[in-house]
Amino acid sequence: MSSARLLVMLLVALCLGPAVAHEPRNTLVTPGEHRYRASADPDRVILVADQHPWRSQTVNWRTNHAVTEAVAQITEAHDTPGLHLTARTVTGTVRPRTTENGLAHHHSVTFDDLRPDTLYAYRVRGQGTWSEWFQFRTAKRGFAPFTFFYFGDAQNSVRSHFSRVIREAFMEHTRPALMLHAGDLVNLRAGIHDDEWGEWFAAGGFLHAMVPSIPVTGNHEFVNEEDEAGHRTRVLSHLWEAQFTVPGNGPPGLRDTVYFVEYQGVLFVALDSTRALEDESLAVLQAQWLEQLLRENTHRWVIVSHHHPMQSVSLGRDNPMLREHWQPLYQRYGVDLVLQGHDHTYGRGANVPEGSTLVDNEVGTVYVVSVAGPKMYLVSAEARQDMTRVGEEVQLYQVIGVEEDRLRFESRTVSGQLYDAFDIRRLPDGRNTLIDKMPAGLLERLCTNPAQPRPTRCWEGTELVD
Ligand SMILES: [Fe+2]
Repeated sequence: MSSARLLVMLLVALCLGPAVAHEPRNTLVTPGEHRYRASADPDRVILVADQHPWRSQTVNWRTNHAVTEAVAQITEAHDTPGLHLTARTVTGTVRPRTTENGLAHHHSVTFDDLRPDTLYAYRVRGQGTWSEWFQFRTAKRGFAPFTFFYFGDAQNSVRSHFSRVIREAFMEHTRPALMLHAGDLVNLRAGIHDDEWGEWFAAGGFLHAMVPSIPVTGNHEFVNEEDEAGHRTRVLSHLWEAQFTVPGNGPPGLRDTVYFVEYQGVLFVALDSTRALEDESLAVLQAQWLEQLLRENTHRWVIVSHHHPMQSVSLGRDNPMLREHWQPLYQRYGVDLVLQGHDHTYGRGANVPEGSTLVDNEVGTVYVVSVAGPKMYLVSAEARQDMTRVGEEVQLYQVIGVEEDRLRFESRTVSGQLYDAFDIRRLPDGRNTLIDKMPAGLLERLCTNPAQPRPTRCWEGTELVD
């Protein structure tokens, strides 16, 4: 090799070196480390809400590939240590998945024939070992008040920065009935990033195993794939189905991401806005399914969640297809509340055109966008003008109380300040009235980062772990 060519190679290496070194990390895992490799011990234990949570409950967990059978035990909780003496054994399914952390087995068991409003203890099996005993309470049959959490995108630097959000929510408001995650739980879009999932489960810790989740997919749960002609499509990450056994009661072809849960008088509906925006026929399919569901609904409240907002809060974003296909159904059938993410800002209020919300203090559907993780965008001028409450650069969690005649909505900052609040009160004639309880004196949050990464962004969320 000539010395000239060696010199060129050296220069190229010097140029590439710093670029590789500065590629943003998105986890606290050091390069080459396999902190989240599966072992014989069960991990990533999570309850996922079933359609009928008063009589059945699904649990997912992960082990290494030595554990070839999904086995769990459950008993009505009692005060003696001999839980195993009264427990019954239930088996389920195993899904093998290979990631950068190697081959793992993802397990799923559904506990059936449960009694309503009953505290249960359960454990899941590894190789020659068990998890600890976790407890959960089944839903009551029919309407009963409860409280649940709603989180916007966690997505980036999840263990570093989302963990304090979910933990602070739990410290301040114990015994939530459910936790709803409105998409982009992790960032993985460019490929399989199992470490990010490891961080998401670590952030919530034992809460995932004791409070049933309603996981909603965002665009980052889909992996970009490109065919030979250069046509890009998004394919649902193979870890989604393996980690979250959702009720599977959605329309054909979308049962892994579109579903509903009936919890104590509330119909929760999870929609897949990513597939809807990629393929209009899938927006229509979901609309047809949703219309039948809403037409037959007998529950007192309807809460829908999808990742992309009906009306965008952040600069340069718009999803008119959702307004065309889904919004008329919300108005016609009286959807009460829509919980969204994607925009990495906060936005709530009279944010939908054509007067569907807040008209003379009477509301139809109320739309909220929120963000839990540290990736932060900027609010558009239109949203600032049209919405009741917006916010930038503020990590939030939401506590939503369900009562017979009202939904109580609170949005709190990660340090515990009340950032936004309202009630949706149900009038005797069936209409809703909005009672605005936005805290006086707490100014609208604006981006303060002096080194904004882009004109539309306050933080990427990936510059925080190095
Ligand atoms: Fe998103």
